[in-house]
Amino acid sequence: MSRSRFIAIVLAAGEGTRLNSARPKVLHDVALQPMIRHVLDALAPLGPAATAVVIGRDMDDVARAVAPARTAIQWPPRGTADAVKAARSLVADRLAAGNIDTVLVLFGDTPLLRSETLAALLDARRRTPAVAVAVAGMRPAEPAPYGRLVQDRDGALLRIVEAKDASAEEGAIGLCNGGIMAIAGRHLFALLDRIGNDNAKREFYLTDIVASAREAGLACRVTELPAEELLGVNTRAELAEAERLMQQRLRRRALEAGATLVAPETVFLAADTRLGRDVVIEPNVVFGPGVTVAENVRIRAFSHIEGARIAAGAIVGPFARLRPGTDLEEDVHVGNFVEVKASRLGRGVKASHLSYLGDSEIGAATNIGAGTITCNYDGFNKSRTIIGEGAFIGSNTALVAPVTVGNGAYVATGSVVTADVPADALTIARARQVDKPGRAAELRARLKRQRNER
Ligand code: UD1
Ligand code: MG
Repeated sequence: MSRSRFIAIVLAAGEGTRLNSARPKVLHDVALQPMIRHVLDALAPLGPAATAVVIGRDMDDVARAVAPARTAIQWPPRGTADAVKAARSLVADRLAAGNIDTVLVLFGDTPLLRSETLAALLDARRRTPAVAVAVAGMRPAEPAPYGRLVQDRDGALLRIVEAKDASAEEGAIGLCNGGIMAIAGRHLFALLDRIGNDNAKREFYLTDIVASAREAGLACRVTELPAEELLGVNTRAELAEAERLMQQRLRRRALEAGATLVAPETVFLAADTRLGRDVVIEPNVVFGPGVTVAENVRIRAFSHIEGARIAAGAIVGPFARLRPGTDLEEDVHVGNFVEVKASRLGRGVKASHLSYLGDSEIGAATNIGAGTITCNYDGFNKSRTIIGEGAFIGSNTALVAPVTVGNGAYVATGSVVTADVPADALTIARARQVDKPGRAAELRARLKRQRNER
């Protein structure tokens, strides 16, 4: 017998008017990842038989962000029930095939959902096949904007009232609609077809599926889930709140994975930041997307790191900036006010102060002096700088790319290197110093005379 499975429908066609943004709401980032990706990531471990995402007209960027999930277009956005119906053609075949017991309807604007929580709602419906609709309930600190769950004395769910349509009495109910529902697959579209739009917003509300099910003699139930995870992002303030909660979660995860965060509340992590054991992150460090840090690395205060791989034993910062394509091998030191982009620094390389290393490759154990700049851009083209192993680049050297410095070479301080440096050469590429004995006093006297004549 084939195991029964579920289909997920994620709604993302709303215009997100309350965000006041040119960008679709569900593409706004939380921990530098679009909200809707968080929702899909929470779904993935549960193995839905299919996932359909409902998007609006002109939302190709949302379709790209959710791939390979398939998308259906709802236009115009006439409410959440109407949105689910827009996915009908995508899921009808699967539903008819018979081994789907439940359709899980989610919103793309609840980025804090965890897989365990979704599983709890699915189980609540599956445990009692007579329950046609299982609704995620929550008790948020600020219930004002949410739909309220109206129950009878025995706790059976009677209907859901949207905040805008609620009477004073209904508005006083603390139990709110978390937005996710697990609905019996065989009843879903019949129940949706019975929903009208006689309400404050003239919209077809998914929430009316509860009343619709009751009228059809079907049971509905509430499963209370953590309010924190069901936070719906409709405004910029709620977006900031979701970010705060997500950062707390990511910091906790990093600590549990064996990293030390000296002042956790000052460290900002991306959803995909990976920190190894015994990593130490000093205060005020910001991680952009795509960072992997191996064991025993120290990231010193006020560093900004994105798109970088940092191998074991490296020390970065304070005040370092690692940009995309940075690859630091074991035991590299990158110090204060050093910027690295699209560069691989071999094992034990030291770039301790005030440098820009872009589009470069630097061999093991090479020392980069203070103020070294790879001049990688001439206004039109980007060019590479290749430095061998065990080389020494003197302070304030400009390496005009494309250029190669051989293994073991020694470039004198203040050089402007425009041609390749052979291995083991001592290269001095600067004007020779000229000393004119006694001429300082003479120069001063002349300048003074000139001033007095003016
Ligand atoms: C909705 C619920 C409310 C619940 C809250 C939880 C309804 C009618 N209300 O309100 O009870 O407490 O979520 O966060 O369901 N969408 C479409 N097409 C539409 C309208 C919306 O796809 O025509 C999508 C939106 O993109 C969004 C989701 O559905 O992802 C929810 O819509 P939203 O406008 O945020 O509903 P809320 O007012 O938050
Ligand atoms: Mg919402």
